[in-house]
Amino acid sequence: MAGKTLGIGVIGAGQIVRRHALAYRAMPNLARLVAVADIDPKRAQAAKEQYGFAEACTDHRELLGRKDIDAVSICTPAGSHSALVVEAIEAGKHVLCEKPMATTLAQADDIVAAADRHPDVIVSFVFQLRSDPTHRRIGWLIREGHLGRALVAKVCVRLRKRPEYYKSVPGRGSWKSDGGGVVVNQAIHQLDALIMLMGRPVRASAVMNTFVQPMEAEDTLLGWVEFEGGALASLDCSVCAQKKEFSIDIMGERAGVRLTGDPDSQKFQWPIFARGSAAKKAIQKAGLKAFPAPPDPKSKMASLKKTIAKIRKKEWIPPNTWGHGPHVQEFLESIVAGGPAPVPPQEGRRSLELATALYESAKSGTIVELPLGSDCRLYRGMDQYESPDRAPTPVPV
Ligand SMILES: NC(=O)c1ccc[n+]([C@@H]2O[C@H](COP(=O)([O-])OP(=O)(O)OC[C@H]3O[C@@H](n4cnc5c(N)ncnc54)[C@H](O)[C@@H]3O)[C@@H](O)[C@H]2O)c1
Repeated sequence: MAGKTLGIGVIGAGQIVRRHALAYRAMPNLARLVAVADIDPKRAQAAKEQYGFAEACTDHRELLGRKDIDAVSICTPAGSHSALVVEAIEAGKHVLCEKPMATTLAQADDIVAAADRHPDVIVSFVFQLRSDPTHRRIGWLIREGHLGRALVAKVCVRLRKRPEYYKSVPGRGSWKSDGGGVVVNQAIHQLDALIMLMGRPVRASAVMNTFVQPMEAEDTLLGWVEFEGGALASLDCSVCAQKKEFSIDIMGERAGVRLTGDPDSQKFQWPIFARGSAAKKAIQKAGLKAFPAPPDPKSKMASLKKTIAKIRKKEWIPPNTWGHGPHVQEFLESIVAGGPAPVPPQEGRRSLELATALYESAKSGTIVELPLGSDCRLYRGMDQYESPDRAPTPVPV
């Protein structure tokens, strides 16, 4: 692969295509944009013109059949991910698919099986917090024991979506098309980060409701998780909030940390709580030494470069320092190196498994044990759960 740039195709030209296209374009030595496909021809054409793809088409199979495409980004709604990812793998293309990995664990396992059949293909899922230095720093501080044993985490994902967000796209916020509501679409990033920080979940429980949003699935869920080793976490997720808040608080035996900022943040805050300022400073210093802060995207130098591009009437391509940028870069580098993928299928499945456990608990009113396999009632999705032949077996009295 060395010396050759990778031909890139993108399937799905909605909101998120921009972040993929700009991240690839920031690395012209590694990648070139070849084609974009969207079932909506206007969107495909608009993306071609806006981001500089060589071609646009309406059928992803046309894109997968091209010899000059080595890798594809899949940026379509979650309900279509598994079929498209499996098709791309079978066509021999490396795949970077947006979160969530799929809408059901059955679909996720189809992807795992396809990736196992094609070990030479790199398959990865977009969980950009995994590439963020602040999240990596906190993970390192926990693993190295700087906070003492991690005891309790508190996750808060609160935002307000306008009703039009759900009304504008058929199936948005539905079980079939999106796989659920706030948990699987918004809080999935924090679930993934929680697993990365706290370890393997073993039990979970939740309650959920659809209070105000015009959607089929939940707009609010409250829950708790127990991890291997006994640590606990509470979850508070809603798209009905007045005040936006994204945070993961971790209480350790000796010190705590509050990680704030949404997945789009250019900068995350990570105040440390410890007894005495010396202890606090020592933890901060160790963390920053292990995982330095990335260059500030709003620095004077960055603003100057942006202004110069504007004066020269050139498009401004931000460097890959935050959000999708470093994540897409790691995907490309993993292709060049022959692996491993930044978030391989088994890793992408973990947050979906936890989301499924929370949904199953809320639906059945029970505490759900993990891991979840094909015997889980929600394995094939919420619509299958309700079908009479998959109804839970009554307990004999
Ligand atoms: N990582 C993040 O922070 C982040 C942020 C936003 C969205 N996303 C994810 O990105 C994905 C897309 O989200 P979006 O906001 O761009 O959605 P969107 O509705 O704006 O765009 C989806 C596009 O896919 C197209 N499409 C659907 N089926 C297709 C098919 N079979 N072939 C080709 N095109 C098809 C639609 O016409 C539409 O243009 C979702 O999985 C979403 O969860 C991730």
